[in-house]
Amino acid sequence: MEHDLVIEAAVGSAFEPAQVPLYYTRKTSDILHKYGPGPRVHFHMGLFGAGAAPNTTVGQRVIRQRIVDSQEAVLDHAAALWRVPENPPASMLDIGCGLGGGSIYWAQEYGAAVTGLTVTADHIPVMTEFVRQAGVADLVTPALGDLHDLQDERLYDAAVAIESSGYMDRERLFAVVAKALKPGGWFGIQEHFVCRPEWTEFIDGYYKTRLGTLSEYIAAARAAGFELEEDEDITDGVAEFWVQSMAWSTAELEQAERSGSPSPIARDRLTESALTHGKLFRIWRDHAIETRLLLFRLGGR
Ligand SMILES: C[S@@+](CC[C@H](N)C(=O)[O-])C[C@H]1O[C@@H](n2cnc3c(N)ncnc32)[C@H](O)[C@@H]1O
Repeated sequence: MEHDLVIEAAVGSAFEPAQVPLYYTRKTSDILHKYGPGPRVHFHMGLFGAGAAPNTTVGQRVIRQRIVDSQEAVLDHAAALWRVPENPPASMLDIGCGLGGGSIYWAQEYGAAVTGLTVTADHIPVMTEFVRQAGVADLVTPALGDLHDLQDERLYDAAVAIESSGYMDRERLFAVVAKALKPGGWFGIQEHFVCRPEWTEFIDGYYKTRLGTLSEYIAAARAAGFELEEDEDITDGVAEFWVQSMAWSTAELEQAERSGSPSPIARDRLTESALTHGKLFRIWRDHAIETRLLLFRLGGR
């Protein structure tokens, strides 16, 4: 009996690669509604000052702008940590680019030629339109594909994976990126790392991820020839994102109820977000999961 339960739990939490594009296809319009209108639309946590708790009893529009600003703020912070302003890469691979907000960011802010790779076909036309609106069609190339199958060799000065490596096999990820980078190239990662494994199944189930530990990443990176250069724990600065996100979802529910016109996001989905994000806030506040910015550099310069 006990044995059966263990097997059931293991099967229940097994990572299924086919679920990822399905999950994102279902989410595209919700992401646009909550984090849009673009052209730089992000689907990652945003940075608030450590301990910052901006008042949530404000209009929903204010909260939404704050969320988008925080998503851009974490990219600014990562860019500074990865010394991009001092040494902007001419060519970049944006791994798991979502709707392309990051790819457009690197192109507009630093003039990089960016290939944005996503496994979700649905993202490509949306991203292509945002790239056009942003006026960077000459710099940003949306590409459909699975990172695990990427064959690029010595093409990029840098690669970034903003909250996408959690969907990937880390040994394969670092091996593929090592091959795709030019010698001396760097790989910047923003990701969530498991500190208290009892939460892994809940988070992986919710986001369809397979989050790992920091030591697992470092071992896989070393095996592929990378050296860790920067490791910043931004957990305290991003935890507030969940509170703001929860406030936005609650306001969206209330607004639909007041006006009688339903939100484009399904009611049960909004209710689930509002509840789950409260739980996620506690998980982040307790450092049961940590969000970090990492910088790896490839040897052989
Ligand atoms: C949380 S979103 C992050 C999007 C984007 N980096 C951002 O910050 O807005 C994760 C992205 O990873 C992509 N992804 C997941 N697994 C992938 C894979 N095996 N190959 C390429 N992209 C993948 C998904 O399609 C999605 O666009």
